[in-house]
Amino acid sequence: MAEKPTLKMTAPRIRAMKEREEKIVSLTAYDVVSGAIADAAGVDVILVGDSVGNVVLGLDTTLPVTLEDMIHHTAATRRGVKRALLVTDMPFGSYQSSVSQAVDAAIALVKAGAEAVKLEGAYTEQIRAIIKAGIPVMGHVGMTPQSVNNFGGFKVQGRGPEAHAVIEAAKQLDEAGAFAIVLELIPAALAKEITHEVSCPTIGIGAGAECDGQIQVFHDILGLGDFNPKHAKVYCKGRELLLKAASDYACEVRCSAFPTEEQSV
Ligand code: KIV
Repeated sequence: MAEKPTLKMTAPRIRAMKEREEKIVSLTAYDVVSGAIADAAGVDVILVGDSVGNVVLGLDTTLPVTLEDMIHHTAATRRGVKRALLVTDMPFGSYQSSVSQAVDAAIALVKAGAEAVKLEGAYTEQIRAIIKAGIPVMGHVGMTPQSVNNFGGFKVQGRGPEAHAVIEAAKQLDEAGAFAIVLELIPAALAKEITHEVSCPTIGIGAGAECDGQIQVFHDILGLGDFNPKHAKVYCKGRELLLKAASDYACEVRCSAFPTEEQSV
């Protein structure tokens, strides 16, 4: 097993990893347990994703997730994370209306424990203002789930002539000062091109192996969900393991095998 890194991660350090050609490891987390597990595993960037809506709150999309939800889950995750850079997603409706709305929401997330924020799309004015307020920003282009209704579903983006728009959006985010950009569900060749075109690191999810780093959803790689997207590799059958343990517990209570002397005080 490779040695785990110990240096505290910051936005400038994540940015500098691109120059050193060091792969950036990123994973989502939503509470103290998932945050502590990801941190202890040596993940560089932990994202409190608005995917909390799908994988924790049981919603079909991220659209109903509120700023209050993100503040709540950021504060919980913060308590489990020491080394990784903690980034929080700005939820739908917390930055699109105005620059001041975006800055206020980003500040609220930092007060809850985030060290940087992520937002979807080329909201360059908002990004510049949030950075000016002292908060590093991660961009996100390609299949941006908050725009699912514009896309007509969770579909691969940037195929054929659409590629140009994705490249342009990534360049705009880079120029606006994003310290990294998530590339979601775009062809690997396009992700490779963007990775060469922008100065900041790219972090892919369903965007091939040529990005500067990779991000995955905690529940997907640990096999905790009942559905696994094609881009996710399942490293453990978490749902099966937990179901077996909970069923064993239920069984032992019913047949009076638990508790024994050992668990009695
Ligand atoms: O919300 C999320 O989990 C994300 C990642 C998939 C990039 O935005």
